[in-house]
Amino acid sequence: MATSADPGSPPGALPLLGHFPAYARDPLGFVTRVSAEYGGVVPFRLGPYAALLLTDPAAIDEVLVAKSRDFRKSRATARVGVVVGNGLLLSEGDAWRAHRRVVQPAFQHDRVAAWGETMVREAEAFVSGWDDGEVREIHRDMAALTLSIVARTLLDSRLDSRDIEAVRRSVMTLTDHFDSRFNSLAFFIPDWLPTPGNVRMRLAVRRLDRIVYRLIGSRRATEGRGDDAISMLLEASTGAAEPLTDRELRDEVMTLFMAGHETTAVALAWSLHLLSEDPEAAASLEAELAEVLDGRPPTVADLPRLRYAEAVVSEALRLYPPAYALSREAIKPTTIAGRALPKSGIAFISVWATHRRPDIFEDPSMFRPERWLHGLARRLPRGAYLPFAEGPRKCIGASFAMQETVLVLATIALRFRVKPVAVSEIHLRPAVTLRPAGPIRLAVQGRALRSASAGA
Ligand code: HEM
Repeated sequence: MATSADPGSPPGALPLLGHFPAYARDPLGFVTRVSAEYGGVVPFRLGPYAALLLTDPAAIDEVLVAKSRDFRKSRATARVGVVVGNGLLLSEGDAWRAHRRVVQPAFQHDRVAAWGETMVREAEAFVSGWDDGEVREIHRDMAALTLSIVARTLLDSRLDSRDIEAVRRSVMTLTDHFDSRFNSLAFFIPDWLPTPGNVRMRLAVRRLDRIVYRLIGSRRATEGRGDDAISMLLEASTGAAEPLTDRELRDEVMTLFMAGHETTAVALAWSLHLLSEDPEAAASLEAELAEVLDGRPPTVADLPRLRYAEAVVSEALRLYPPAYALSREAIKPTTIAGRALPKSGIAFISVWATHRRPDIFEDPSMFRPERWLHGLARRLPRGAYLPFAEGPRKCIGASFAMQETVLVLATIALRFRVKPVAVSEIHLRPAVTLRPAGPIRLAVQGRALRSASAGA
């Protein structure tokens, strides 16, 4: 029975529901208040389950790395299973290990680097449709752009525009579906009930399935495969002890798709929003682009010198981590930071509140890309900065995502400066990812391309 009398636990737990209603009403406010008042390891109740709210880096590292074998992904994450099946995001144990071995080669450095050209080409084509001075809805734009990038890199670089549009419509439907379910009572509506939302969701999955299975079939039938992720998974799987079935391949592709598009879309949207409000940071970025690129589009070879662009993305991921919380369920009784967690207990890691700890990040709510320029990442304690998580279940697409966001940001900032349309606070919507609650409207001002020698 839930109780507020757990030692060190915040008051207000309800029978059966525990602190869940208080959390669901204001997920970011709840973790911010509770961790500020009760510390880095706080017992609380999520529904009927004992839980620990973690913002202490050492305790977080214990869950994700040292004691990762005591945990599995939690029930909340499992809700996306209706779309991604038993792909990497959700599978556990030996099945997860075997699949991670098959998928990993597609994300090796050279392979990811080879997708750089597509990323820049798609971004250039996208911004070529922007007019000087017009107002854009930047989150919607970035969602469309990152979708066409994942479609061309993961599915097929030659996908025609009809397929891209079908993929875009389906994925948007799915993203909105999960978005409306998360952190609300609608979370408890079973997927099999034929509600209008569930019917739309199933139709979208069917449309996507048709395309993915068709592509898998055509890759199996041809000798010379492409440079997309489906081809790479087939290639790696052919040599494996147990080659992947079409269904398993489909689950992995769908997983990469769902995990790899909205996350980068919000990362880019927040980066551009933050830059729009900070003309000095925008000018520093433009100066770097002028020096490194001299007016030409960026390439993967430029990345080591695009340090300010990378710092902008790192800082946006700190302030607005797309995966703002990570949760794990104990598969046996364990301890974290000396506190007991029973079997089925939940380790709830607030990435949001950890990234805003004043004892770790000076002026934590300020946007300061410069903080990343002098080796901060190396000095931070383990578990303090974790936009991509840590340990064996760390994001497999982390370098893909960093490469994509930095290249896209550089491509946009080379041609346009973004400005806020009106001074209005952007509200947050913590759903599957940390999204803006409403549109982010930015005016885009065309920039004359100048080289460093001509002055930025
Ligand atoms: C800024 C962009 C991204 C962020 C912030 C992000 C964040 C994360 C995080 C935090 C996890 C761990 C989740 C957990 O432990 O519960 C994760 C896992 C994963 N991500 Fe990403 N991700 C991003 C982009 C991508 C991309 C581009 C791809 C693929 C193309 C991808 C594929 C995956 C997969 C397959 C997993 C599951 C890995 C496993 O459990 O073995 N992600 N991501």
